[in-house]
Amino acid sequence: MFTIAAGVVAYLIGSISFAVIVSRLFGLSDPRSYGSGNPGATNVLRSGNKKAALLTLLGDAAKGWFAVWLAQRLAPSLHVAEGTVALAAIAVFLGHLYPVFLRFKGGKGVATALGVLLAIEPWLAVAAAATWLIVAVFLRYSSLAAIVAAVFAPLYYMFGDGLAWDADARLGTAIAAMSLLLLYRHRANMARLLAGKETRIGGR
Ligand code: G3P
Repeated sequence: MFTIAAGVVAYLIGSISFAVIVSRLFGLSDPRSYGSGNPGATNVLRSGNKKAALLTLLGDAAKGWFAVWLAQRLAPSLHVAEGTVALAAIAVFLGHLYPVFLRFKGGKGVATALGVLLAIEPWLAVAAAATWLIVAVFLRYSSLAAIVAAVFAPLYYMFGDGLAWDADARLGTAIAAMSLLLLYRHRANMARLLAGKETRIGGR
């Protein structure tokens, strides 16, 4: 019962779109109406408002972190298996991608995945964020940075086992599933990257 409740609560938390909320608070256009049309921090940045983009990034990351943290906190006292935490991780991520509050048309999950990783293993989040940053700084494509970080995140989790943390198969599966979904959500970006038509960071 707790497992199902944790999944539903995490999904609902994930469904809160900070891109839409923050844009409304700042009096900006709805991010679904310009740029890539994606309700995410990268697209909010295309509005020209850096503060709104940063708040979107922080909000979407915080909800990922919070949903997993909540499951981590409650699961042991209720004698629920680690699988519940893995389910919460996937559920909050799916909430962001397919939010019930936005007719199931959500974002691509980069910031939310970062928050989820932060709750699972802080150093894993640092490694993924550093990977994102290196690609973003040198190549200036937010999407490519996310794609590369998504490919590396499950590998980092696997190779860090016994060195930096004790990996759990269920959490590893959740991380790999998040990466696959994230790559799937970036298929239009991949096509634009291959065609040389992707917008660089800072561009409109
Ligand atoms: O955070 C999403 C990013 O990887 C790509 O966003 O708006 O360029 O499709 P966008």
